[in-house]
Amino acid sequence: MKVIIDGTVVPDDEAVISVHDWGVLRGFGVFEVIRSYEGNAFRIASHLDRLERSAAAMAIELPERGKLESWIVDCAEAGGSCQVRVVVTGGSRDSGASAPSRTIVLAEPTATVPDRLSVLSMKALWHPATDTGSFSGIKWTSYAPNMASTDKAQRAGFDDALLLTADSVVLEGPTFTVAWMSEGRLETPTLELGILASVTRDVLLESANRLDVEVKQGFFPLDRLLGADEVFGLSTVKEVTPIERVGEHEIPIGPFGKTFGEQFRSIVVAETSGTPATS
Ligand SMILES: Cc1ncc(COP(=O)(O)O)c(C=O)c1O
Repeated sequence: MKVIIDGTVVPDDEAVISVHDWGVLRGFGVFEVIRSYEGNAFRIASHLDRLERSAAAMAIELPERGKLESWIVDCAEAGGSCQVRVVVTGGSRDSGASAPSRTIVLAEPTATVPDRLSVLSMKALWHPATDTGSFSGIKWTSYAPNMASTDKAQRAGFDDALLLTADSVVLEGPTFTVAWMSEGRLETPTLELGILASVTRDVLLESANRLDVEVKQGFFPLDRLLGADEVFGLSTVKEVTPIERVGEHEIPIGPFGKTFGEQFRSIVVAETSGTPATS
């Protein structure tokens, strides 16, 4: 699939960056994953806004926004229904082993998502929920703790992890946001927890607004989620996917997952005039 590095299209097997790059050596870089529906990238502006916030937190200089946008559009058009990954590495800041920051934009096949998710809850003491500093809520390539959490859950037979603070306050998944219906209200953890400002979360909140569903963002204990009428996992890749199990606890599958899924799809169609996935 199409790979663009610093604005140049490169064959897949020649797409390389320096071994001195801190992106390679130390996970120092920022990234985004943008969904393309039939060649139309969804909400590029929101993803670029977040990329700019992440890069600013790490003092990484980004290429001009217009160029980034055109590379994303090119990859989306080439990939059709796919996901477009943007990675901007930190380059090397070591004296004697210099490497410039690199911007990689590539089309990838859309990751396969089960129709319903099972998650394993676990304390995430590494999560920025414990950090009120400038790295809170940024999308950096230092995703090792996130991926180790997914891996731990998968080795225990679950699809993914559900991350909690030390006090069992619900945060998010390693690569997705969570939300649920409780007493007719849509509830989701507040961004004040240092969770990622998810683009899909914004779409869900807009959908709730359209449907006149009351929304509460806050600090919720795990028990609140376990007692919910329906729970959803949200992301660019997962869209709105019902969660049917948290540990040994079964969660009902109700009507709102379908309703929010349909709203999500209608927003995608309206903005991209492509046909979104039916998952
Ligand atoms: C930690 C985390 N939370 C939430 C999300 C969902 O964000 P979005 O809806 O913008 O894909 C992601 C996406 O990768 C993520 O990494």
